[in-house]
Amino acid sequence: MTPAKSEDVKPRMSAALARCRNIEDLRHLASRRVPKPMFDYLDGAAEDEVTLRRNTSAFEDVALVPRYAVAVENPDLRTRVLGADLDWPVLLAPTGMSRLFHHHGEWAVAAAAQRSGTLYSLSTLSSVSIEGVAEVNGSAKMFQVYLLKDPGLNQDLMARAKAAGFDALCLTVDVPVQGNRERDLHSGMTLPPTFGPAQWFQFARCPAWVWNHLMSSKMTLANIEGQIDQGSQDVTSLAKFIHEQFDTRITWERVEHLAKSWDGPFAIKGLLAPDDARRAVDAGASAIIVSNHGGRQLDGAVAPFDVLESMVDAVGDRAEIILDGGVRRGSHVIKALAMGAKACMVGRPYLFGLGAGGEAGVDRALEILRPETQRALQLSGCRRPRDLDRSYLQRLG
Ligand SMILES: Cc1cc2nc3c(=O)[nH]c(=O)nc-3n(C[C@H](O)[C@H](O)[C@H](O)COP(=O)(O)O)c2cc1C
Repeated sequence: MTPAKSEDVKPRMSAALARCRNIEDLRHLASRRVPKPMFDYLDGAAEDEVTLRRNTSAFEDVALVPRYAVAVENPDLRTRVLGADLDWPVLLAPTGMSRLFHHHGEWAVAAAAQRSGTLYSLSTLSSVSIEGVAEVNGSAKMFQVYLLKDPGLNQDLMARAKAAGFDALCLTVDVPVQGNRERDLHSGMTLPPTFGPAQWFQFARCPAWVWNHLMSSKMTLANIEGQIDQGSQDVTSLAKFIHEQFDTRITWERVEHLAKSWDGPFAIKGLLAPDDARRAVDAGASAIIVSNHGGRQLDGAVAPFDVLESMVDAVGDRAEIILDGGVRRGSHVIKALAMGAKACMVGRPYLFGLGAGGEAGVDRALEILRPETQRALQLSGCRRPRDLDRSYLQRLG
């Protein structure tokens, strides 16, 4: 059941959304609208969540060094990333099962991304299909895959993405096994779910979420349902199937083969080491997404912003570098660009918006981040992202 929408029809914003002034406000509103097991799945990360916190706090260890008496009126945030012309340099990261947070899920996010003039990434593990997303987003979009044991399944998903007009492909490499997310173990958000009386009480606290889910189409892993004629087609069995399909023996030869068969902009997501970045470029990557999966995989892994400089220097102009993880402010975007990133990606910021208010909430998240980015650029004394360089940064301590 696709919500009616078009590029020009902007959903009405509630007073509660309008009162959200920053991403943290949206996070707070989402925590009240989304049942706790789902909210914790969104908000949480692996083990002690050290990496999750460092992803954002790393930005505080580098300060901006602005220039003044510079004409900075009419700043222009436009950029070109992954072969697409975008209105501003913040892309939407792939996130699985977005309908957990709002029944309009990926439909809402993809439509809001198009309206904002940026690129939307769709996860293989999405709750709206490749074709369903293409119906609401006719502009720049990227499809994200994992390397699966059955290469035929990868090829099939890629062929569908090409046919549906996805411009770029992203291969996520940082999930050889699922990270140990203890909030999910406590809340019962496991495969299969193990909800007890405490969780049912938490569902009862979010009647609108429950009602909307009861009234809308069943949630599935929409890209793979119907393709697998073994066992049950319910969401738990499909998720188990796909996780069993993850190939833990990724080799650069297979990556190279995937890049060649896609034949278009190709990003590798989840790299943190300069030698891996160089190998990825040799294997055919046109972009490297410096990421630790938002702290959801290896707790204790280095933060993307902490390694950004070495990753940029490792690949030079052979590939674009995209920073992913921890971005909550426009000033974070400006710091990453000054360090040499071509763009940033955000995951939770738009999902907080989605949970807080569906499509209007995603609009709100992007309407917060975009002017913040523009203002930080102007206050730094620049008119365009390409005016920034490392002379605008000072490492503290
Ligand atoms: C709920 C959720 C689901 C995610 N699902 C995927 C996924 O299916 N594929 C993927 O490559 N990354 C996935 N990620 C990671 C994001 O793409 C991104 O790396 C991360 O959210 C960036 O950190 P941030 O949330 O601090 O912006 C997911 C993240 C969240 C929060």
